[in-house]
Amino acid sequence: MARTSTAAVHHGAFHPLRVTAVDRLTADAVAVTFAVPPELRETFRYTPGQHIAVRRVANGSEVRRTYSICTPVLGAEGPEAVQVGVRLVDGGEFSTYALKELAVGDVVEVLPPAGRFTLAPRAGSFAAIVGGSGITPVLSMAATLLATRPDARFCLIRSDRTAASTMFLEEVADLKDRWPDRFQLVSVLSREDQQAGLVSGRLDQERLATLLPTLLSVESVDGWFLCGPYGLVQGAEQALRALGVPRGRVHQEIFHVDDGASPAPSRSGPPVHATLTATLDGRSGSWPVEDGETLLDSVLRHRADAPYACKGGVCGTCRAFLVSGEVRMDRNFALEPDEVEAGYVLACQSHPAGEEVELDFDR
Ligand code: FES
Repeated sequence: MARTSTAAVHHGAFHPLRVTAVDRLTADAVAVTFAVPPELRETFRYTPGQHIAVRRVANGSEVRRTYSICTPVLGAEGPEAVQVGVRLVDGGEFSTYALKELAVGDVVEVLPPAGRFTLAPRAGSFAAIVGGSGITPVLSMAATLLATRPDARFCLIRSDRTAASTMFLEEVADLKDRWPDRFQLVSVLSREDQQAGLVSGRLDQERLATLLPTLLSVESVDGWFLCGPYGLVQGAEQALRALGVPRGRVHQEIFHVDDGASPAPSRSGPPVHATLTATLDGRSGSWPVEDGETLLDSVLRHRADAPYACKGGVCGTCRAFLVSGEVRMDRNFALEPDEVEAGYVLACQSHPAGEEVELDFDR
């Protein structure tokens, strides 16, 4: 079956972007800047906190990764460049390439910005708790907010192993210098003693529950942004819940899910012989779903342009609207509770729980 609608979203379309800078941030991290040509500026317009996905084909296999944009949004026009922070991950194919080989002038295939872990500038008080490379999207949020909204404040609590391994140290210090009254910074080093008065050790739930009320008026924070490894984000979320912060004010993005601390995917239930109907960029098709495969893999067998990046339930690139039928999701670190309630699923984590399922990637 095939049908066509007027939508033309091109979710899965990669664009070749030229690298204009590769700046060393720490011994194991770089900031990569891509030029955005004039005809793609609208396509690459982003909200602070969003990420881009990159694709690399090497030795016959394709690797996709998502990286958060670190630069602020300062004009009404779409960006002339986007910059992402890349930290070396053990055995990580793209991060190894980015740190060891990528050079100015190289061309990388990039998906337009996506993701709902965002802070569009508005009046109010905002706070973030981040670990390691979790600073990347939050740097864009804080820098944009402080530069564009004199009626907004931002409190950043960041946790890193050592000062030498801290990404965007200067950029964050610069925010402090420029907006000392509206930007509050607490830096915690887990593997290094700091000078008297500063904080060292691990930022766990107990620590945060004690620390946060001493730093700011917890109940008057309009939005909390948690970003980093699973353990840190989960501990921060529990601390905020214990302090009575409503769930709707807490936004989170997880990095490095496969750290052994995250829950295992659920794979219960008998196999279901199902038919999937999917709409993507205005075109629809129906196909049988093979035993054990995800709905994303089912779509990808027929539509190579289906959007995805991590295939791990983390980035949200594969988000689709469940038009009809039921699905079982293995895990979800990307969708907010209100998105799930509204009927969105992660195609890379979804299996059919009935005989007919219909997904719409265009909504
Ligand atoms: S591809 Fe990343 S959540 Fe599905």
